[in-house]
Amino acid sequence: MLLVANAEAWPGFKTTVEQLKAGADPLTAMVEGISLVEREPKVRSVGFGGWPNMLGVMECDAAVMDGNTREVGAVGAVPNTIPVAKLAHEVMKKLPHVMLTGEGARRFATETGFSVDDVLLEDSKRVWWERLEKEMTPEQKAAFPNTPLAPLLKTITDPERVRDTTVWLAADRERGIHAATSTSGWAWKYPGRLGDSPIPGAGYYADSRYGAAACTHTGEMTMRSATARTIVLAMKLGYSLTDAVKLAVDELDELAGGFLGGVVIHAVDAHGNHQVTNFRCQGEIRYWLWEDSMPEPELRDATNA
Ligand code: GLY
Repeated sequence: MLLVANAEAWPGFKTTVEQLKAGADPLTAMVEGISLVEREPKVRSVGFGGWPNMLGVMECDAAVMDGNTREVGAVGAVPNTIPVAKLAHEVMKKLPHVMLTGEGARRFATETGFSVDDVLLEDSKRVWWERLEKEMTPEQKAAFPNTPLAPLLKTITDPERVRDTTVWLAADRERGIHAATSTSGWAWKYPGRLGDSPIPGAGYYADSRYGAAACTHTGEMTMRSATARTIVLAMKLGYSLTDAVKLAVDELDELAGGFLGGVVIHAVDAHGNHQVTNFRCQGEIRYWLWEDSMPEPELRDATNA
């Protein structure tokens, strides 16, 4: 058994490891771990600790993918709900659909027993308004929120603001290869914006026969390149894990126009190998790894593309 997740996974990684050791279903175990990440205010890119959209509303995205069946459950731009990874799992288990968004996802959450929670932290609300205020003229401020938001796009593309996610991959010879994600998306995003975290093939993909991949940071790039699916399809076509990740990195590198930033790729293959590669993200990128030969999970450094 192998479990890989990005550095933000710290509040729940050990819980998932313990559940996997006890023989739990890998998707259920990952969703349990992610639920702890979503409830941790110190993780500033996921769930309760994340940043709101431009209107000051938290809209979270999440997904699960079962690599044995290629079933997917995803939710996007869901207001007032935690844990959204668990809600995505419910979509997979209970509906014929793959993805629910916005108010429909919230309605389904109520039907399946999720409470309506105020997900915006007081501190996030303060920082959100201070940042937005800087971009607004006195007229825009007086009219807010009834003012066009697109002219305020500098807040969305602020390099200081994270575009992170928590992404998890579990691989086991018997139990298969699976993926799960969760994020509050880009800070100050335009309302209704979906990132790559709920989009199968972009932010995550899993196929137990070949491997899985999941991405953090600039979803606008992985959605344009179908990064996660590219990696798994390349492995199906005979590429090694390293070559499959290189192909996906080259495709990201070839993008022109639009918003371009950094991406971190997490990938595993069906032979027990893993790779975490940083393409153009600033700073130190680390990830969590646990293999059943390890007494404790380890925090490791990603390689640079
Ligand atoms: N990768 C996270 C996002 O773009 O929302």
